[in-house]
This record gives sequence, structure tokens and C-alpha cells, in this order.
Amino acid sequence: MASAGEEDGARRAVWRLVGPASELSQKRCRLLYSSFGRDSDVCLFHAGGEFFALDARCAHSGGPLCEGDIEDADGALQVFCPWHDYDFNLRTGHSSTGLQQQVHGVKLEDGSVYVKHVSVLSLQPFSSAQNG
Ligand code: FES
Repeated sequence: MASAGEEDGARRAVWRLVGPASELSQKRCRLLYSSFGRDSDVCLFHAGGEFFALDARCAHSGGPLCEGDIEDADGALQVFCPWHDYDFNLRTGHSSTGLQQQVHGVKLEDGSVYVKHVSVLSLQPFSSAQNG
């Protein structure tokens, strides 16, 4: 029988507690640091009363999506990368350029936000001193 604690080494996405929705909803975007390093960081957007989680580095050339503008086009919320202005649908990660940004599941439970991700996520940077 599998034990509930079997997480080490498994590259399996599990629900990661991020923090209280009341606090996280006060900013348009929060950067979630990944324990795997900056290429795996996640943007937690709050727009239109909903949370969305996408990879933080733009699928084009790695631009910081957290700093992008968010626009509502015909009911579809999109973030525009600050580097070359490519659009990405917050819900699907799809861009009209044909690129696809990785999206991650988000759920609200008892007033807390959870993001489904393979790595540990943190609102604070992981100290590189601890890694090596
Ligand atoms: S890096 Fe994002 S559009 Fe080019």
C-alpha cells in the first residue's frame, strides 16, 4: 500500500499551500519561488476575482510575466509579456502567437490558496546558502 508521505524524489505535481486568499488577492501578481530554481518559478495572478497560476518566465524568451499588463479581451483575461508584448491567456496559457505558457492548477480551500506544482513553492526566495 502506498504511504501518503511518499513525496521525495517524485516529480509529481501535488497541491502546495501558498497562503491566505485574503492577502494574496490584494496584489495583481505574486511571484512564487520554486525550490527547483528560477526556471520553475510561478506567477500567481489575481484578476477578475479569480486566481491563475502560470510559469513565471515567458515561453518566448523568459520575460517576467508577473510584470506584464493584464487585459480583458472579450471575457478572456490575458497577460502581456513586458519584453515583447506577446499575449497569454491566463486560464489556458495559450498565446495568439502559437506559443503555450505552462499553467498550473489553483484551488481555494478554507480561505487558503493552493497551487498544484512539482516543486515546493514559496513567497520568499530560497536561500542559495542552504543549497550548497
Ligand atoms: S520574452 Fe515574453 S514576449 Fe518575448
